[in-house]
Parts: sequence; C-alpha cells; structure tokens
Amino acid sequence: MELALSRYLPFPFLLLILTVPYIKITSAVCHVDDEKGLLGFKSGITHDPSGMLSTWKAGTDCCTWAGINCLFNDRVTSISLFGQLDKPNSFLSGTISPSLLKVQNLDGIYLQNLRNISGKFPDLIFGLPKLKFVYIENNKLSGQIPMNIGKLTQLEALSLAGNQFTGTLPSSISELTQLTQLNLGNNHLTGQFPAGIKQLKNLTFLSLERNKLSGTIPDMFKSFTNLRSLILSRNAFSGKIPDSVSSLAPRLLYLELGHNALSGQLPSFLGNFKALDTLDLSWNLFSGVVPKSFVNLTKIFNLDLSHNVLTDPFPEMNVKGIESLDLSYNKFHLKEIPKWVTSSPIIYSLKLAKCGIQMSLDSWKPAETYFYDFIDLSDNEISGSPVDLLNRTDYLVEFKASENKLRFDLEKLRIVTTLKQLDISRNLVYGKVPAAITGLEKLNVSYNHLCGQLPQTKFPASSFVGNDCLCGSPLPPCKL
Ligand SMILES: *[C@@H]1O[C@H](CO)[C@@H](O)[C@H](O)[C@H]1NC(C)=O
Ligand SMILES: *[C@@H]1O[C@H](CO)[C@@H](O)[C@H](O)[C@H]1NC(C)=O
Ligand SMILES: *[C@@H]1O[C@H](CO)[C@@H](O)[C@H](O)[C@H]1NC(C)=O
Ligand SMILES: *[C@@H]1O[C@H](CO)[C@@H](O)[C@H](O)[C@H]1NC(C)=O
Ligand SMILES: *[C@@H]1O[C@H](CO)[C@@H](O)[C@H](O)[C@H]1NC(C)=O
Repeated sequence: MELALSRYLPFPFLLLILTVPYIKITSAVCHVDDEKGLLGFKSGITHDPSGMLSTWKAGTDCCTWAGINCLFNDRVTSISLFGQLDKPNSFLSGTISPSLLKVQNLDGIYLQNLRNISGKFPDLIFGLPKLKFVYIENNKLSGQIPMNIGKLTQLEALSLAGNQFTGTLPSSISELTQLTQLNLGNNHLTGQFPAGIKQLKNLTFLSLERNKLSGTIPDMFKSFTNLRSLILSRNAFSGKIPDSVSSLAPRLLYLELGHNALSGQLPSFLGNFKALDTLDLSWNLFSGVVPKSFVNLTKIFNLDLSHNVLTDPFPEMNVKGIESLDLSYNKFHLKEIPKWVTSSPIIYSLKLAKCGIQMSLDSWKPAETYFYDFIDLSDNEISGSPVDLLNRTDYLVEFKASENKLRFDLEKLRIVTTLKQLDISRNLVYGKVPAAITGLEKLNVSYNHLCGQLPQTKFPASSFVGNDCLCGSPLPPCKL
C-alpha cells in the first residue's frame, strides 16, 4: 500500500499520510462521554479473571484501551471483546450496562465468546443511531427478542448466536432491510420460520440453527440473490426443501439443513449449485435416489447425507478432493468405497457405516492418508486387515469398524498418540490386547477372538466381552 502510494504522491504529502496515525495515538484523549460510558460498562462486569479490561482506567486515553477503537475526532466507534473458548479463564461475568448509551458514535459492538455475560436483550442499542454491526455471541443473554427490533433499521449485521433467547422472532425483523448477516443460531427460539425474513433481501448469511423452530421452510428464496450461507440445521422443520431454494444456485456456498424432519426426494436442482462447498442434509427423512445431477457438484468439500432413507444408485461424483463425506445409515449398497473418495488428496473424515460395502481393506489403496482424522466403516461386510491403513494415518482420532469381517492380529495395529476412539467390536480380530490402548478415551474390542491377560485400563467389561479367552479385570481373573 505505502509502496504503491509513493509512486504517485510527492514526498511531503506521503510523510503526512504516514505520520497521521502516530499523532493520533500519542496525542488523543478520549471524549469524556466515551470514557464515562465505557467505565460504566466495566462496572457492570463482576468478574474478569483474565484481566481483559485491566487497561480500562479512568484518566487514561480510552482510545488505547484493549478492545476499543477510535476513529474520526477521537470518538470511540467500536468495542470488541473476545473470549477464547479453549481458555477456561477467558470469560466475563456480569451484564451489559446501559451506560454504554453514552458512547454515541459506536458503529460496532462485538462481545464474542465471553460466555458469562447475562441479562436481557441490551435495549441501550436502540439509542445508538450509528450502530451497524452487533455481534453478541456465545454469552448468556436471555428473555425475548424485543418486538420493536425492527426499529434498528441501520443495522447491517446482527448476531445473537449462542445465547438463551426464548420465544418467537418478532415480525418487525422484516424492517431490517440493510442486514447482510443475521445469525440467531443456538438459542431457544420457538414457533414457525420467521416470515419477516422474506424481506431481508440483502442477506449473505442466514443462520437459525440449533433452535426449536418447526413447521415448513417457506418458499421465499427467489429474491435472495446474495445469499452465501443458509443454515437451518437442528430445528424441527418438516416438509420438503422449497423450490425457490433453486434460485440460490449460482452463489450459495453452505446449505445446512441437517437434524430436522424434512422429507421427500432430494430435488435434482441441487446439482446446479456449482459453487457449493458444504451440503448437510443429515438426520432427516429424505427418501428416493440421490439425483444424477450431483455429478455436477464439482466444488463440494463436505457432503453429509447420513441418517436418511436414500437408495441406490449413488452417482459417481466428479469432485477433485472431498474433505469430509458421511453417507452412513441410509439404504445404500455401495459395494466398494467410491473411487472419488479413494482418490481424494485432502480427505480427513470418511464415514460410510452401513453402506453395503463388501470389499477387502487389503485392496483399498487411498491416494492420501495424511489428513485422516475420522474413519467409520461400521456395519458393512469389509474383510482383510486395517493394519496397513492405520500404519499410514499418523493423526487419526477415531477408527470405527464394528460389525465387519476384519481379521488381523491386534498387537500389530499401530495406535497413534492422537487416537481417542477405537471400536472394532464384532469382527474376527485375534491376538492379545496391547498396553498401548490404555491411553484411549473409548475402546471396544468385544465379540472377537482375542485371548490373554488384559492390561490395566479404565474401560468397562462390555468393551472386552465375547472374546475367546480374555481374562483379568474387568473380566474374571486369569487361571494360573
Ligand atoms: C457467571 O455469572 C453468574 C451470574 O452473574 C455467577 O453467579 C457465576 O458465578 C458466574 N460464573 C463464573 C464461572 O464466574
Ligand atoms: C442492500 O441492497 C441495496 C439494493 O441492492 C443496496 O443499494 C444497498 O447498498 C444494500 N445494503 C447493504 C448494507 O449492503
Ligand atoms: C451437469 O451440468 C451440465 C451443464 O450445466 C448439464 O448439461 C448436465 O445435464 C448436468 N448433468 C446432470 C447429470 O444433470
Ligand atoms: C509401518 O510403516 C513403517 C514405515 O513406513 C514400516 O517400517 C513398518 O513395517 C510398517 N508396519 C506395518 C505393521 O505394516
Ligand atoms: C461394545 O460393543 C458391544 C457390541 O457392539 C456393545 O453391546 C457394547 O455396549 C459396547 N461397549 C462399549 C463400552 O462401548
């Protein structure tokens, strides 16, 4: 940027541009209202174990406080506080103080992953005329979303995801026509699909996932020409995928409708979604064949059709590299692991439980095994040995292959340090149980032909029962 500018601007002018930010940082003193408003917010916080607000001190320039941004005239324009979900200490307890109303130039409020901010919907945001971006995510706000939410007509993004809001989404939401992102996922919202959303034609991102919404998904997507993500998973929606979803084809990247009660055939227009990255239709009641048009989903990376009642034949996909695939628990008889899976250079999750696979693992030669984290081939008729495969999957986390015809010496199976779950129950596995399995979180080697003394583990007897001659705790002691 600076380099490009220097070609067009005379030197003194350039110097001015480059030094302005430094002048601002060293000389600005924030507006007294902003300081009051932010210190008021701080006093609403009752517990800040990681010291997120430790730089917020009266008499110091609030533009330099952690999470605070100032722009024109040194007024505070955004507050951005992020907790880290993997750090137990990184949260804030308390409520969002109404004194934030004093920070009149706010255009963005980002309070994300703070986990323990509670209270009702923060009504103070109705008094902030410049506010455009609200992301209050993964906290503990509760109660209803206010009826007059539609008054916030200047909003361009609203996310209240991961809170405990209840009730229905008010119909006035239809007035927020400048919204490009609406995320109300992971709350306790009830009722039908909020009809007002039909008016929000600028949306690029819509998520209502993980609520308790029910009824049909309205046929209202014809004019949503900008939508990139439609995420309605984990509700109780029923009925068909509406026809107007087909209008989203040129641009949609994420279509996630899993864990609902949707039914009917998969529409063949899904094959027109040339840009689709992720299609999740799992845990529904979809039936019939998977449309041939799926061969045109050439960009798909994540495909989950598991737990439906879909039937053969499965189309021979034309995709360069699938990353995750789950076709488990349908009515497929794939016979083999599909070639377009075997050839993927980037696959990390392969789940084909109860897919009618009858091959030998010895003849399966995946192009690349480096990225594999999850493999589930349970409930098929797979023979041979997984020893070579697991010798090549250095970062495997889960291997499940129960109810097959795998025949191998368990002591030869490489147990990598990343492995957490191993289920090879109901096969033809022989040999002893090696001590290497003690580090796993879950183990099931029941109903095989194992023998000998068990190493000391925390696993229950049902992990080991039904073998030829295993003994020692938690099974009966070995005979001397
Ligand atoms: C979360 O907030 C509630 C209510 O303010 C409080 O009782 C609780 O102790 C807080 N939890 C933690 C882990 O600080
Ligand atoms: C919403 O769409 C209209 C019409 O396409 C456009 O003029 C406006 O700038 C958009 N608003 C936002 C916030 O993108
Ligand atoms: C795939 O797309 C091409 C071009 O849009 C189309 O002609 C063809 O019929 C499609 N294939 C299937 C099986 O739908
Ligand atoms: C596992 O791989 C290593 C190195 O690639 C090789 O030396 C070893 O023989 C293999 N073990 C088995 C059981 O295939
Ligand atoms: C192990 O698998 C058997 C049979 O598949 C099952 O009955 C048992 O509950 C499982 N035990 C554990 C601990 O997963």
